[in-house]
Amino acid sequence: MNDPGWNRDHKEVFNDDRTPAGTCQACHGRELEGTVLSRLPVERTLICKDAPGCRATSQGKRITLRAGTKVSCTHCHRRPEA
Ligand code: HEC
Ligand code: HEC
Repeated sequence: MNDPGWNRDHKEVFNDDRTPAGTCQACHGRELEGTVLSRLPVERTLICKDAPGCRATSQGKRITLRAGTKVSCTHCHRRPEA
C-alpha cells in the first residue's frame, strides 16, 4: 500500500472488532497466504518482525519483496489467528 503507517499500524485494524471478519482475507487469501489481489506492483522494502528473510538494518528490521509477490502475512511474521 506504499504507506509506512499501514505497515506499522495494520495490526490495530486487524484486531479491531469493527473490522468485519474476512476483510483481510478478501485479498490476502483464506489462509492469509497471499493471492493475486495482494500482489506488489513494485519491489518494496518493508518493516518486518521475525520471518525468514527479515533482516536487521540500520533503520530496524526490513524485508525486501519483489514486484509480483503475493503478499502474505507470513512474509513478516507468523500467521495471526484470524
Ligand atoms: C483490496 C485488497 C486488500 C485488502 C482488503 C487488504 N489488503 Fe493488504 N495488501 C493488498 C495489496 C495489493 C498489498 C500490496 C500493496 C503495496 O505495497 O503495493 C497489500 C499489502 C499489505 C501489507 C504490507 C505492507 C504494505 O504496505 O504493502 C500489509 C501489512 C497488509 N497488506 C495488511 C493487511 C491487513 C491487516 C488487511 C485487513 C485489515 C489487509 N491488508 C487488507 C491488498 C489488500
Ligand atoms: C511487510 C511486513 C508485514 C506484512 C506483510 C504483514 N505484517 Fe503484520 N506486522 C508487521 C510488523 C512489523 C508487526 C509488528 C508491529 C508492532 O509490533 O508494532 C506486525 C504485527 C502484526 C500483528 C500483531 C501481533 C504480532 O505478531 O505482532 C498482527 C495481528 C498482524 N501483524 C496482522 C497481520 C495480517 C493479518 C497480515 C496479512 C493480511 C499482516 N499482518 C501482514 C509486518 C507485516
